[in-house]
Amino acid sequence: MLLAYEDHGPGPVVVLLHGFPFDRTMWSGQLADVGSIYRLITPDLRGHGESAAPEGIYTMEEMADDVAETLDALGLRVPVVLGGLSMGGYVALALMKRSPERFRALILMDTRATADTPEAAGNREGLAARVLTDGNADAVVAAQLPKLFSAYTRQNRAPLIEPIRAVMERTTPRALAGSLRGMAKRADQSGLLGQIKVPTLVLVGEEDAITPPAEAKKMAEAIPNAQLAIIPDGGHLAPLENAAAANRAILTFLNGLGKQ
Ligand code: MLT
Repeated sequence: MLLAYEDHGPGPVVVLLHGFPFDRTMWSGQLADVGSIYRLITPDLRGHGESAAPEGIYTMEEMADDVAETLDALGLRVPVVLGGLSMGGYVALALMKRSPERFRALILMDTRATADTPEAAGNREGLAARVLTDGNADAVVAAQLPKLFSAYTRQNRAPLIEPIRAVMERTTPRALAGSLRGMAKRADQSGLLGQIKVPTLVLVGEEDAITPPAEAKKMAEAIPNAQLAIIPDGGHLAPLENAAAANRAILTFLNGLGKQ
């Protein structure tokens, strides 16, 4: 399925995949700084933002295929940098597994390689059933919003929160349920980490309550050529919450790759 996307800036391509249940607007903090040097392609994953929301379970592989099809339609001929936050990171790992030749570097943000525990998968199924019955996103917002942001963001950068709530509320129950069920059945990609051949940046908010720094550190240790960046005052949406620090880490990493 072709996805809606924004194509922003000059230079080597960096594809950024958003988390659940957000859309490409979550990269607003990267557009000016990173997007003035690199060409940022930011798709809306299926069911999110302006992309279509088909029926069914949105597996990470299907979402990965959507991204690949969209990149093909853009006619990109050389390997690009791939980044993903949280669910976007799950999709990025599915893409790395399927088509490593397409990518020259990887940025894993506030994400994990492991599968859901049976308990987490059960909770997701409960939420999926609930949003379909309710006909709105309230249950997902109630479960997830309190865990998204650092204490610093809640106190000092509160204007960042409402737009994210609004994006979550706009996501249809069908897309919420499709993504929740897809995440619940996603594969454990821990075994893939040791096989990643490209330079990788693992970035995490120091207060990420959903995919904590300890998990990011383990992931970075398992990837042969990985660096770890812990973003101060950041929660699960570190690139949005502390864009200045996240952009410094991202640009240092990207500039170190050399321009291609
Ligand atoms: C996300 O931000 O994409 C979600 O927190 C991922 C998840 O629920 O595992």
